[in-house]
Amino acid sequence: QQGLFTYDPGFVSTAACESKITFIDGTNGVLLHRGYPIEQLAQHSDYLETCYLLIHGELPSNEELGHFKSMVKNHTMVHEQLNHFFNGFRRDAHPMAIMCGVVGALSAFYHDTMDSTDEKHREIAAFRLIAKMPTLAAMCYKYSIGQPFMYPRNDLDYAANFLYMMFGTPCEEFVVNPILAKAMDKIFLLHADHEQNASTSTVRLAGSSGANVFACIASGIAALWGPAHGGANEAVLSMLMEIEDESRIPEFIERAKDKDDSFRLMGFGHRVYKNFDPRAKVMKESCDQVLQELGLEDDPLFKIARRLEQIALEDPYFVERKLYPNVDFYSGIILRAIGIPVSMFTVIFAMARTVGWYSHWNEMVSTDYRIGRPRQLYTGHTKRDYPG
Ligand code: SDX
Repeated sequence: QQGLFTYDPGFVSTAACESKITFIDGTNGVLLHRGYPIEQLAQHSDYLETCYLLIHGELPSNEELGHFKSMVKNHTMVHEQLNHFFNGFRRDAHPMAIMCGVVGALSAFYHDTMDSTDEKHREIAAFRLIAKMPTLAAMCYKYSIGQPFMYPRNDLDYAANFLYMMFGTPCEEFVVNPILAKAMDKIFLLHADHEQNASTSTVRLAGSSGANVFACIASGIAALWGPAHGGANEAVLSMLMEIEDESRIPEFIERAKDKDDSFRLMGFGHRVYKNFDPRAKVMKESCDQVLQELGLEDDPLFKIARRLEQIALEDPYFVERKLYPNVDFYSGIILRAIGIPVSMFTVIFAMARTVGWYSHWNEMVSTDYRIGRPRQLYTGHTKRDYPG
């Protein structure tokens, strides 16, 4: 507001930040990672290759990718002491609450030996984070169902190893379905990074104070948990299950438009996209394919989702406000088809986004950065004296 406040040009410099990692054109529904369209990465790349691209800025050679993947495999186990950390939680604790705790606890293991000014140390932190998140996530699930933790298997690829740790048991041979592993890897890839979203901005701000990168990632997990952000994928499934029949869709569309009703159409709308979220398009295609391959094409929730999208995109309220499906709208249907419980949906998002959070932290600490200090427009009382 001009006049009432002196406008500090520094406001923009602390509020906005420069980055080379991801570009979003919200008007045209464009998402580029280091210049590569998300659609092409989803079609031709895999999660770990995309991790390398996000961190290093270029696609790896076969040799570089081989080394990257083997380094990730070398860090998949967590310190045995971390197992005890879980015992402090109730068995029914939300997995995101546990993830906030155990990922933050990683800083207790690496804080003293990590110098974030050293590029080699930062690279090892990347391997540790990318490698250990699936192990910790699967441990959250196993803890919640009272089954023993499964050690990672380094003969399996990244997504297959996660599914093995989630659903395998020591009692019998567990063979991962390659269709599910491929779908899981694509889910990870589509959630890897998304510019300066709320959780990434949280990680950057935490990192700007010089805090340990593991603690910064834990702050990103906390920010992601909200239903307006990463928690939306869990909320979408709960909404579809509440709708339960296509005949009830109009009732929920009207509720979403009612300002006196706090209900929002979960998985719709976006702070930046005022067009289709390109990830939602890829996710929908992947949904179709996975359900077909699994013989679940008549999945009732997927039918409700497709009908809901169709109705919403024809409704003036949504059209006028440019509300389109976002990344969370279809992801939950695929996760459910893979067998992931709804309570773990946001944990999957956090696992995948860890490389994005790390990449932005690494980009910032690799430069001559300053502590972030968002400015405010003060609208409170002017100076006044204490009565008496
Ligand atoms: C993610 O930032 C990122 O990049 C995030 C993310 C990432 O990869 O990191 O993309 C991941 O968080 C995706 C978003 C997931 N959240 C949801 O699906 C929750 C449902 N969506 C809404 O809560 C909402 O759309 C937000 C939070 C996503 C955006 O909120 P805004 O910025 O307030 O939305 P807006 O300014 O575009 O709203 C314009 C109008 C408003 O109504 P009016 O004041 O004009 O009358 O549209 C309404 C809003 O009330 N509106 C909705 C709605 N979303 C916005 N109405 C009904 N249902 C919705 N989903």
